[in-house]
Amino acid sequence: MDRQTRSLLAHADHPFAAPLEDSSVDRLLARAVVRGDARMLDLGCGEGAWLIRALQRHPDGKAVGVDISAEALERARHRAREAGVAERLALHRCEAASFEAPHPFDLVLSVGATHAFGGLLPTLEAARRQLAPGGTVLVGDAYWEREPSPWARETLGEYEDLAGTVEKVTAEGWTPVYAHISTRHELDDYEWNWTGSLSRWALDNRDHPDSAEALQAAARHRDEWLRGYRASFGFVCMALRRTTG
Ligand SMILES: C[S@@+](CC[C@H](N)C(=O)[O-])C[C@H]1O[C@@H](n2cnc3c(N)ncnc32)[C@H](O)[C@@H]1O
Repeated sequence: MDRQTRSLLAHADHPFAAPLEDSSVDRLLARAVVRGDARMLDLGCGEGAWLIRALQRHPDGKAVGVDISAEALERARHRAREAGVAERLALHRCEAASFEAPHPFDLVLSVGATHAFGGLLPTLEAARRQLAPGGTVLVGDAYWEREPSPWARETLGEYEDLAGTVEKVTAEGWTPVYAHISTRHELDDYEWNWTGSLSRWALDNRDHPDSAEALQAAARHRDEWLRGYRASFGFVCMALRRTTG
């Protein structure tokens, strides 16, 4: 089973592929989208959950989603049709870092996809190139809530603590105008959904050739989460504006 298929199965019961509840997403969008007719771009949009939500809130808004996963984009298309916003959502399959649009955007989102750019600051730099004057970037990334184990650092990557993360961003000329720190409940709920949905699929499809592998992958992920990074992992979504200009 390839990584993308596994990820789609794992996210079956959690529309956002990030540790946030619907109400947290709504609060962030309320702060980040200030124009009813906003143009919005999501770099690493996955199944389009953020943009679909934003378009539902803003009937005059328009959105563009970019992702490399054809399966995720197909689901985004399907979900957008179901939500009645498909005509206002354009989806592109390409590398997020090389996406070019003919016009700037009032909101550029990138949540849980900073690895596609090589880290948080390169993500913000890519977002800045697409941003209209006075626009907002909504970026979601990991940080260390506590000192990570060597295993967690090596496996998940180099992050700062929360203060260090904010400092890094402000030093690059961004000002946070709002942020949401995922709660213990949101972090745990996300992981139980991830491992639980994949396990349930494996148990419901025992005759499928990928069933045993999926069950093992869920068990391995659960073990890595509980033993490896649950104690140290944090996630923050920041709404950012350029400090000057
Ligand atoms: C953790 S998911 C987050 C999806 C979405 N932002 C959300 O919060 O629901 C990361 C997404 O980034 C996409 N991705 C990874 N590398 C990428 C790249 N180089 N270019 C575009 N998308 C990429 C993956 O396919 C996946 O859909």
